[in-house]
Amino acid sequence: MSPPKITAETLRGWKGSRRIAALTAYDYPMAKLLDESGIPLILVGDSLGMVVLGYADTTRVTMDEMEHHTRAAARARPHALLAADLPYGSYVTAPQSVENARRLVAAGAEAVKAEGGRAIGEQVRAIREAGIPVIGHLGMLPQHVREEGGYHIKGRAEVEHQGLLADADDLVAAGVFAIVLELVVPAVAGEITRRIRVPTIGIGSGPECDGQILVCNDLVGTFPWFTPRFVQPRLRAFDQMRTAIAEWQRTI
Ligand code: KIV
Repeated sequence: MSPPKITAETLRGWKGSRRIAALTAYDYPMAKLLDESGIPLILVGDSLGMVVLGYADTTRVTMDEMEHHTRAAARARPHALLAADLPYGSYVTAPQSVENARRLVAAGAEAVKAEGGRAIGEQVRAIREAGIPVIGHLGMLPQHVREEGGYHIKGRAEVEHQGLLADADDLVAAGVFAIVLELVVPAVAGEITRRIRVPTIGIGSGPECDGQILVCNDLVGTFPWFTPRFVQPRLRAFDQMRTAIAEWQRTI
């Protein structure tokens, strides 16, 4: 019997009872592998800009690129929920956000993710009103890396801590079904997790979140040139591929 389809409502309902393991995939084979492995949430992250397209950060990723990779991942027809990132500059106004969220849904996404808190409340509400599930993203926001001059931990200063709580409350009120917390001080991530009624999914934010997400390439070692400090790769796939290529080359 095939496993039941995971929806946004399924994942929201796991709050407090079941942990959420989420990974990124940007193409058909990886989406299929993650789904066969029982990963319930697959994200076509705009991290594809770095780990697949070779950009320095995520700010150059376009809607066309997100659609292309979302279509590829969606061809795996996963039981997992397939979410896709709204890329930089694609959700500046509410009407633009709805139009671009619909484009990602037409490409096969079943939910979209957007970075920011109170600043994008109106956009999140508009996407929800269009019937599209939304994942929030707070803490270090990779689409803001240029303004911020790097990837910094969030929530150390009291003003930042209070800002994160207010952002989380606002996103929940706007209708998100989960919130990614990236590089948030673990104690603050734990406080947000206990405070809100939707699951938190941490990345570099400690063990107290309701789930964890990683860029899959970091986990399996297919982007060995940079690995975030909080990731312990489980495999060095590129090293093994290098060995396989060298072995083959010696045979010809
Ligand atoms: O783009 C991405 O991969 C993300 C992370 C949270 C994994 O947003």
